[in-house]
Amino acid sequence: MAEKLAIHGGKPVRSEPFPAWPVYGPEEERKLVEVLRSGKWGKQDGQEVATFERRFAEYCGARHGIAVNNGTISLQIALLAAGIKAGDEVIVPPYTFLATASAVLMCNAMPVFVDLDLDTWNIDPKRIEEAITPRTRAIIPVHFGGLPADMDAIMAIARRHNLIVIEDAAHAHGAEYKGRRCGSIGHFGSFSFQSSKNLTCGEGGIITTNDDELAAQCRSIHNCGRVAGGPWYEHHVIACNYRMNEFQGGLLNCQLDRLDDQIKTREANGDYLAERVRRIPGIIPQVRTGECTRHGYHLFLVRVDPAQLGMSRETFVNAVKAEGIPISPGYPFPLYRQPMFMNAAFGPYTGYQTSGRGMNYREVRCPQTETLCYEQGIFMVQQLLLGTRKDMDDIVAAFEKVYENRAELAKS
Ligand SMILES: Cc1ncc(COP(=O)(O)O)c(C=O)c1O
Repeated sequence: MAEKLAIHGGKPVRSEPFPAWPVYGPEEERKLVEVLRSGKWGKQDGQEVATFERRFAEYCGARHGIAVNNGTISLQIALLAAGIKAGDEVIVPPYTFLATASAVLMCNAMPVFVDLDLDTWNIDPKRIEEAITPRTRAIIPVHFGGLPADMDAIMAIARRHNLIVIEDAAHAHGAEYKGRRCGSIGHFGSFSFQSSKNLTCGEGGIITTNDDELAAQCRSIHNCGRVAGGPWYEHHVIACNYRMNEFQGGLLNCQLDRLDDQIKTREANGDYLAERVRRIPGIIPQVRTGECTRHGYHLFLVRVDPAQLGMSRETFVNAVKAEGIPISPGYPFPLYRQPMFMNAAFGPYTGYQTSGRGMNYREVRCPQTETLCYEQGIFMVQQLLLGTRKDMDDIVAAFEKVYENRAELAKS
């Protein structure tokens, strides 16, 4: 007889909490007080942000890093530096956070959604070429959950069609594709340091690039349109103050020292968990491709096949949560079904209207993405993977217990 489910009043598999996030210690405390007492709080006053820019760029294998306020403005600055303008089209996946597409709209250009590959949860390069028109200027692949997108195929398409590639690496700090770090493969990388991210200072972002000229453009745009070596009151392009401050830079310098150990732990736990849960009928972990030489594991992702599992995703998620394991069904609908897209609520940004394609996001359909949103996708957040082997075994035990009780759950 299967053990009684917690959702039916049985004892939960687990009652202790999983590891907390963010992780910090005396190093961060010392650094914040040091910045405070220095009185050098702005980027132009101190060295913390400049040091972090150098260190993080080097960490990614990129020549330049330009630290900014968040991982949305970093995408927008990269697009602006690449010359994206009204009427241009930019290819993006529809299974991602709002920013990947809204940054395009905020450059007065039009995001064009291309469906993903169900195994990897990443944009499907086979579908990208079908979406290219004479107005297409760029592609923004997202390394979803920390698994690098198929960059060889994407860069080959970009070369054929003369497109800019901006890697949205908000989930992929330290992840590697064929031994190369995410953020150093496309023309630009864009990272977020928002509080949930694997490298965080609460809010923040950075643009990485190997191109000296594009880097100079980004640096100017993030600094009110000033140019290197130019006078303070001289603004060359429409821009804004998007600079990171010294407290954020100081925190990130400490957090970066922790990143590699954390990646090692997440990767060992993530790979172990995938190996264990895939043995349960109807549980399909994100497929780690051969090209992924280091998984960022911002999320641990599984799909369910309700027919094999013997229950709907919602039934499964609710029963596993009751066992003390925090899991969620992920994005509830595709990005193009946001009210903003459905109602074309783009404020003053009308560039999409001049795109050759016109604009009606209500007509967009991406079947793989809809399958993930409406039936199959499950998220687990990265900090669970900072736990012990016993923590992973508890997750497996909860999955197994719920599966064993499928007949019972089908009745309720
Ligand atoms: C894929 C992706 N891109 C961009 C962002 C935007 O980052 P931010 O919240 O720092 O603006 C996020 C997350 O928040 C994200 O998940």
